[in-house]
Amino acid sequence: MQILGIETSCDETAVAIVGEQKPRIRASLVLSQLTEHQRFGGIVPEVAARAHLAHLDLLASRALAEADVGWADIDGIAATGGPGLIGGVMVGVMLAKAVALARNLPFLAVNHLEGHALTARLTDDVPFPFLLLLVSGGHCQLLVVEGIGRYRRLGTTVDDAAGECFDKGAKLLGLGFPGGPAIERAAAKGDPARFPLPRPLKGRPGCDFSFSGLKTALRETVVTRGGTSALSEQDVGDLSASLQAAIGDSLVERTTHAIRKFHQQHHPTGSHLVVAGGVAANRALRAALSDLAAHHRLAFVAPPPELCTDNGAMIAWAGLERLKAGLADRLDFAPRPRWPLDPTAPKATGAGVKA
Ligand code: KG4
Ligand code: ZN
Repeated sequence: MQILGIETSCDETAVAIVGEQKPRIRASLVLSQLTEHQRFGGIVPEVAARAHLAHLDLLASRALAEADVGWADIDGIAATGGPGLIGGVMVGVMLAKAVALARNLPFLAVNHLEGHALTARLTDDVPFPFLLLLVSGGHCQLLVVEGIGRYRRLGTTVDDAAGECFDKGAKLLGLGFPGGPAIERAAAKGDPARFPLPRPLKGRPGCDFSFSGLKTALRETVVTRGGTSALSEQDVGDLSASLQAAIGDSLVERTTHAIRKFHQQHHPTGSHLVVAGGVAANRALRAALSDLAAHHRLAFVAPPPELCTDNGAMIAWAGLERLKAGLADRLDFAPRPRWPLDPTAPKATGAGVKA
């Protein structure tokens, strides 16, 4: 079985072809729109949608050529159906529906977050149930992944996502966009102990996250030192290292609480801690989570960095798993700007809650 997967929910146009037999990824192309958005200092939804439209069909043809297959070899078309920037999602969904209709193939509308969640099964065949820390630009959640389409959320952010905190922090430090990789690079030369930054919610029960207080503390530190332009290279390195350490500590502390719950409810079947989403590319975080998992006798899986950030392979794989489970979608599927993995989870409460 081979699935073509399309990802267009944010600022990456991505197409991949993934099969059941290893090596599973036959082709995976990611076209970043970085230069298109850089001059605005962030992602502009309308610009993103137009860029997806301009490049997607060509990218799909190139993926087929790279995998050395034709449409006749494809068994299903998967596209991100949400959540995300709706203009871009519509572009991907429309191409997938058109091909599905023309070639009489199953269409799979994949939840982008399920794509991130199931990547550890694409790479490492992780068995259900597993504990997942999903950390990206728009999401920061702890979930028990019980099966395909079956998620139980243990915690979420009450304000910003971890990736957002990296991105806003980088902007404050004059490091540009996207912030995560820039902070990681600058932090390599920095001292994480020079500027003490808070660990929000530390010591509080539960698995929710908060990052807005940390962002404010960073801003205050920068302002006290005379603003972004007054920072020396050493200051930027030290502040980056402090921010990375504070975000990492918070993620680890909240994950510790989640491991306790996971053990209580799923011992001994649940044996894996998985991290996914763009922030999972961060090396310091991967190392800290690996130690945490070992301490709690869990196997740890972090997909390779290029499969942590947005890509088409994760969508193709989630589509493949869904097709095998008999979960193909109808062609009247409507793209969803919001699409929680666990619709039964209570709304997070706190300052600046986004739902
Ligand atoms: O999963 P993703 O590619 O897109 C979303 O679905 O949001 O995640 C993007 C986020 C951005 O906030 C980016 O700054 C962050 O992941 N990120 C990182 C690193 N690489 C990407 N954060 C920390 N360290 C990294 N190396
Ligand atoms: Zn993502």
